[in-house]
Amino acid sequence: MICLTTSERTLTAALKQVERNKEYIDMVELRLDLLEEGELVSAQIFPRLCALPTIATFRRICDGGASKLNDKTRISILRDIVLKGDFSYVDIEDDVKKSDLKVKDAETDVRHDFESELRAKGIRIIRSYHDFEKVPAELFGKITKLAKKGDIPKVAVTPNNIVDVVTIFRIQQELKDVKEKIVVAMGDYGVCTRILYKKIGSMLTFASENQTAPGQLTPKDLKLLYRADMVNSRTNVYGIIGNPVLQTASPKIHNPGFDSIHYNAIYVPFLVDKVRTFFKLAELIQIHGFSVTVPHKRDVLPYLGKISREVKQIGACNTVTRIQGMWKGINTDYYGFLAPIETEIAEEKIKTALVIGAGGASRAVVWALKNHHVKVTVVNRTKEKAIHLAEETMSSWDTLENVKKYEGKVDLVVQTTVIGMGETMGQSPVPDFEFTGKEFVYDLIYKPDYTEFLKKASAAGCSTYNGKRMLLEQGKLQFEAFTGYHYPHWIKPEF
Ligand code: ATR
Repeated sequence: MICLTTSERTLTAALKQVERNKEYIDMVELRLDLLEEGELVSAQIFPRLCALPTIATFRRICDGGASKLNDKTRISILRDIVLKGDFSYVDIEDDVKKSDLKVKDAETDVRHDFESELRAKGIRIIRSYHDFEKVPAELFGKITKLAKKGDIPKVAVTPNNIVDVVTIFRIQQELKDVKEKIVVAMGDYGVCTRILYKKIGSMLTFASENQTAPGQLTPKDLKLLYRADMVNSRTNVYGIIGNPVLQTASPKIHNPGFDSIHYNAIYVPFLVDKVRTFFKLAELIQIHGFSVTVPHKRDVLPYLGKISREVKQIGACNTVTRIQGMWKGINTDYYGFLAPIETEIAEEKIKTALVIGAGGASRAVVWALKNHHVKVTVVNRTKEKAIHLAEETMSSWDTLENVKKYEGKVDLVVQTTVIGMGETMGQSPVPDFEFTGKEFVYDLIYKPDYTEFLKKASAAGCSTYNGKRMLLEQGKLQFEAFTGYHYPHWIKPEF
């Protein structure tokens, strides 16, 4: 189940939020603590109006909520709302004192045991435990204890590395007997578990329009992009590892592709600090294949049983697949780069190239060109790196200051540095370089679509290619490596 956590200050706005997301969600968590005080008197009508199973949650500040009330008052208000409405669940923190759950009725002055009242009405109690700093050592014991009284245990903890993520995935194996449980791993490391909530044995995953807790995704992304609610025991897991990784466009290539060929598979971003531990996780949850991005493209090499020729040459791998129990590494950046200019190379319209930059991305480009008999000159800010790459690939080299020497002398100019994106948006690594208009010009950057470098080339009349094209092409080849099928031509990923 995908559960929308409301983030609005009024009931009317919260209902509109539910309406906007209705096609993506199965239930709602009404966050009473986020509502304006005056709204609480009518909060009991919410479940009936939204017509979805609803959790009543009145979160304290110390658990990531907004309520400043003491527990006695808070529980008393919560009781008033819940017993009058049609709530299916109520969230009560595990450390609320027994005495605070014995609530005096304002009208009759009689003390009532709130938990017994809930059970009598058939409202399920979610016993929640929060840790915003870590995954506690006694996590498994905690869940078992919370589940003891027949309530639904909920643990919301914070993984700080991939080792913690492994612990979260082990919950399903270790606590198979606790059938109903809610497990939430917060923060960036937890994102993969929010998507794969079924694989960690959680009965639901929380989603919100604007992150009511760290790492939350939108209901739309969980439902449409990831199809998180379709995961079952036969779903094959794929993913991408990197650091950072959450901004990656690759899920937008692979998930719609899997869906389109009716392949029961999901592609998920994994924030990874240690590659070695990720391989353990990959064994634990039987990951079928994964993409590799910065900074792990070299780090994965020692764990691969087989590597392709281009991985050996470039010394970097961006795609890992499981073949007959062994991890195999290929580099689709190499082929993805070539795809848009393959015909021009075959027709010998491209025989010479100038490659700007000598970093990781440049290595795939220079090797791909060299292997296709294009004569390359590498220019780079740091001379030593240009020399190193040029010697390795039997190419020529020069410094960035000398770049104007090559104006009108090459068929292809490739920009592989980071200049032009992020903080350097609007800049070019070669601002004085003039194009004749006859060159093919390629920039590996995909955000923005058109860098300063490409704009200048385009204005001069050159044929231009941006990094989006390469990203898509390398993704399509990964898809083939993962599934054995061509990427469906009717799918046009947007990123
Ligand atoms: P990637 O894997 O994306 O290629 P990288 O290996 O860090 O990243 O390489 C970055 C490239 O951008 C290098 O060629 C780098 O030049 P240096 O080798 O001199 O560092 C280039 N680069 C980074 N900042 C630059 C700048 N301000 N001007 C020119 N080139 C720059």
